[in-house]
Amino acid sequence: MKLFVTGGAGFIGSQFIRDWVKRFPQDEIINFDKLTYAGNLANLTSVEDHPGYTFVRGDIRHSEALLEAIPHGADAVVHFAAESHVDRSINGAAEFVSTNALGTQVLLDAARHRKVARFLHISTDEVGGSMHPEEWLKEDSALKPRSAYAASKTAAEHLVRAAGETFGTDYVITRTSNNYGPFQFPEKLLPLAICNAMENQSIPVYGDGMQVRDWIHVEDNCRALISTLRGGRAGHTYHIGGGFPRPNRYVLESILAMLDRPKSLLAPTKDRPGHDRRYAVNFDKIVRELNWRPLISFQDGLRQTIHWYKDNQQWVKSVRSGDYLNYYKEQYGQSLSQSKAA
Ligand code: NAD
Ligand code: TYD
Repeated sequence: MKLFVTGGAGFIGSQFIRDWVKRFPQDEIINFDKLTYAGNLANLTSVEDHPGYTFVRGDIRHSEALLEAIPHGADAVVHFAAESHVDRSINGAAEFVSTNALGTQVLLDAARHRKVARFLHISTDEVGGSMHPEEWLKEDSALKPRSAYAASKTAAEHLVRAAGETFGTDYVITRTSNNYGPFQFPEKLLPLAICNAMENQSIPVYGDGMQVRDWIHVEDNCRALISTLRGGRAGHTYHIGGGFPRPNRYVLESILAMLDRPKSLLAPTKDRPGHDRRYAVNFDKIVRELNWRPLISFQDGLRQTIHWYKDNQQWVKSVRSGDYLNYYKEQYGQSLSQSKAA
């Protein structure tokens, strides 16, 4: 197969590429990525010499660059590229709308012109908004996004469906819950907490810390993405969940226990504006139709992830410089070194 992957230098995209190359070494993959602060070619050193792998630096909002890079008649576009962090969308929503919504439209048009067979669109459970206790998001539930990130991802989904209706584009949409695992940029909760705890720095806990997220290991997610790309029904949406919804405090305390660090590192801070209280996806459809289910328990996945961050200090250091340090200061009103616990 010939795949055109966008955002393949990010957290999930790079895992997808590494896994695909391992499973289907004869296939061709083009990784098209702008290399924003979140994109990092160091995530792909294990595949960079693979004969079927090519990297192209480019922006999904640039039609000409896409038309040049997408091979005519490719088997699939796998669309990961996005601005992905909710906190950043609070401070600057325009870039999210531009990349996530407009970028998806430009990509859909280019893929159609290059006669790509299938468009796999990577979306998020956040499009459903905050779930009430006992409520579970289903594939046909109403979409009620509440952050600019979620709203821009919802717009992207609608544009993908519109291309299906208008032009007959063969698409599949996946909505995944919160991923964790190696190579995740340490602005998201799990890697932030692991990195801060390792350095005895405090960990910001927004509000009461009882917000619920359904954690899935990125390898389980990528196995589901491969299944939906190969076997998902055209025009269908598939939910992918970890089956492990837990409050943030539970997750943070598990990290501290595994690292043998005190709970006093947890530092309650002001809540995120518009903070979604609970995400919970029902993923019965993918289990039923594609026989996929998550295989990595949270305890095993977390242990493996912590080991990875311990063993990859150089990677952490390199991504936690420049832009990240300024961002951290703006976000928490202190520099990383000042946030060291007493
Ligand atoms: P990430 O932020 O780690 O990576 C995003 C990648 O997209 C980066 O490599 C970046 O350089 C690239 N990119 C950004 N703007 C671009 C542009 N204009 N043109 C080309 N490349 C661009 O994100 P991630 O966590 O790997 O998420 C990947 C996808 O999965 C996103 O679409 C996200 O919305 C979705 N998703 C993520 C999660 C999660 O928990 N991380 C959960 C559900 C869905
Ligand atoms: P995050 O990893 O940003 O993912 P999302 O907001 O897309 O679910 O945050 C996960 C949860 O952790 C969310 O409820 C916000 C919370 N959180 C904190 O309490 N402290 C932090 O420093 C961060 C980054 C997140």
